Amino acid sequence: MSTDLIKDALSLIPYGFYSITSRSGDEVNAMVANWVMQASFTPRLVAIGLQKKAYTHSLIATGGQFAVNIFRKEDVEAIKPFTKGRAKNPDKMTTATYTPAPATGCPILAGAAAYVECRVVQLIDVGGDHDILVGEVVGGDVLKPGAVTDTLTLPDLGWSYAG
Ligand SMILES: Cc1cc2nc3c(=O)[nH]c(=O)nc-3n(C[C@H](O)[C@H](O)[C@H](O)COP(=O)(O)O)c2cc1C
Repeated sequence: MSTDLIKDALSLIPYGFYSITSRSGDEVNAMVANWVMQASFTPRLVAIGLQKKAYTHSLIATGGQFAVNIFRKEDVEAIKPFTKGRAKNPDKMTTATYTPAPATGCPILAGAAAYVECRVVQLIDVGGDHDILVGEVVGGDVLKPGAVTDTLTLPDLGWSYAG
């Protein structure tokens, strides 16, 4: 417990831990994110809280597409190289191994257990430091079959991005 009980309460929401990849022309990027959820069945929509100042934000705004890379707990080391932002780690994609997703060409990172690729429906400024990104799922695959309980989560790492 801290002196900020609202932060403490928000920090009790459990999240998965994913990599959001993006492509605009020849330029690609991968960032880590946990504010990721399905937001509609028909059409299939995914919503993400996306930091305005992230390099990914500019790539998604211009490219209009992104992918959510889902990892298993045992593959945690495969996502860690993307934890730092592009400004602090400008070479993170030149040293990365990935293949292009079939519909959008967004990177599918080596080690990912599954992915969904999306086209942007809306990137909404809701007055905060993050925008709400909504994408329609246009493709996806399971590369390493497993149970949802195998999926890497933020609590697995003991990390928090909330409050
Ligand atoms: C554990 C963790 C969770 C994060 N979750 C999110 C998130 O849900 N949304 C977001 O916009 N940024 C999130 N970030 C911050 C981005 O990863 C960070 O802004 C990064 O610099 C973006 O990378 P880029 O500049 O290469 O696009 C998270 C960072 C960490 C370490």
